[in-house]
Amino acid sequence: MAPVVSGFSKLSKKDKIKWLTEHHFSNDKNAIDTLVTYWNSNEQLQQLHDEFTENTISNYYLPFSVAPNFLINDKRYTLPMTIEESSVVAAASKAAKFWQTRGGFKAKVLSAIKVGQVHFMHTGTPEKLQKFFNLVKPKLLNSVSGITKNMEKRGGGVRAIELTDKGLEIDNYYQLHCTFETADAMGANFINSCLEQFAKTLVVEAKKYTNFSETEKDIEIIMSILSNYVPECLVKASVSCAIQELPNTSQLSSLQYAQKFVRAVRIAEVEPYRAVTHNKGIMNGIDAVVLATGNDFRAIEAGAHAYASRNGKYTSLTHAEIKNDTFVFSIEIPLALGTVGGLTNLHPLVKLALELLGKPNAEKLMEITAVAGLAQNFAAINSLITTGIQQGHMKMHLMNILNQFEATKSEKEHLIKYFKTNAVTHSDVVTQIEKLRA
Ligand code: MEV
Repeated sequence: MAPVVSGFSKLSKKDKIKWLTEHHFSNDKNAIDTLVTYWNSNEQLQQLHDEFTENTISNYYLPFSVAPNFLINDKRYTLPMTIEESSVVAAASKAAKFWQTRGGFKAKVLSAIKVGQVHFMHTGTPEKLQKFFNLVKPKLLNSVSGITKNMEKRGGGVRAIELTDKGLEIDNYYQLHCTFETADAMGANFINSCLEQFAKTLVVEAKKYTNFSETEKDIEIIMSILSNYVPECLVKASVSCAIQELPNTSQLSSLQYAQKFVRAVRIAEVEPYRAVTHNKGIMNGIDAVVLATGNDFRAIEAGAHAYASRNGKYTSLTHAEIKNDTFVFSIEIPLALGTVGGLTNLHPLVKLALELLGKPNAEKLMEITAVAGLAQNFAAINSLITTGIQQGHMKMHLMNILNQFEATKSEKEHLIKYFKTNAVTHSDVVTQIEKLRA
């Protein structure tokens, strides 16, 4: 077991690695080599990455890929996607290509409201607190004017503050439930700064409020923090086409395809076990764009899944229907994204990703990202209801298996050719490699 270490963060990068090698890798120099191999020779760039977080000892690569041919609101985009799962980018590209000849994707931001809350305890009656709140509300707003000034110039700001009585759930528990718009920023710092100031002002003003008893004057702030549940920061994306424009094979007519597709989505709407995997596939596309554009994928994940269970039962984020001979497939998802602040101006690949998208504002990025989710879900369901998922998945996974076996260039060429006409299974890849090497 490694000993307790103090002041680790203050050690140089080399000394941190030395400590790790000594206590976790039995002084194996290979561990050092692996970590050092991933250092960037451009010292300035390496320092930038080192300073993103504490205790950075190396870089962790993920592929930075692109998916072309996305027609969104009549404009063509190439999407940047950062993801390790082999089949995701191919699936997105395939769906983009399919829909670009069928009118493309339509997307629209429905609203861009974000939420934050001050959670506090108060021992007086709700009525008395409400009177105090009504009186103090202008002061609360005033107290954040220094923070909101620039945001207001950009079209954002505080939209509302409400007092919520949560006493039925926890004795004496109240909230300031606040809504914000944050223009092109994700807005976490802005929202949290406003909330912390609201909390301070609330405490100070309560002390001065003569209608409160001495104990009522003591408001106890528990915490002030934004919510990643943003059901009003919502974007909708959809595709539609005439039924006869859908795939038509010897196994399934276009109509049968549409009906089977709609049923597959319906199953995800009613069956949580399926809904989770269905939505995971959607998040394959969404997270990939969110990561590439330097946004917080944990916030997006948390908000999306909370939205998927907003009616008390976890359900699908996408919906499909056949309406007068037209197939319609859509997604509605909360996406609190930003295109300024955070990593957006710092990480060179994030900057490049945003440039690739034509420097979108936050709402445009919400639309593009929702489309990536819808496209991914289309590709997954298309495979699931036709060939099954493994055919495409294993084809893309082939290279990973070959790399696991350290296949040479010529072995790879030979086996890729072989598996063009044979189903890829792990065991057959192993058999074929052994055959080649025998
Ligand atoms: C795999 O990463 C995602 C899928 O399982 C999604 C789905 O089942 O819809 C293919």
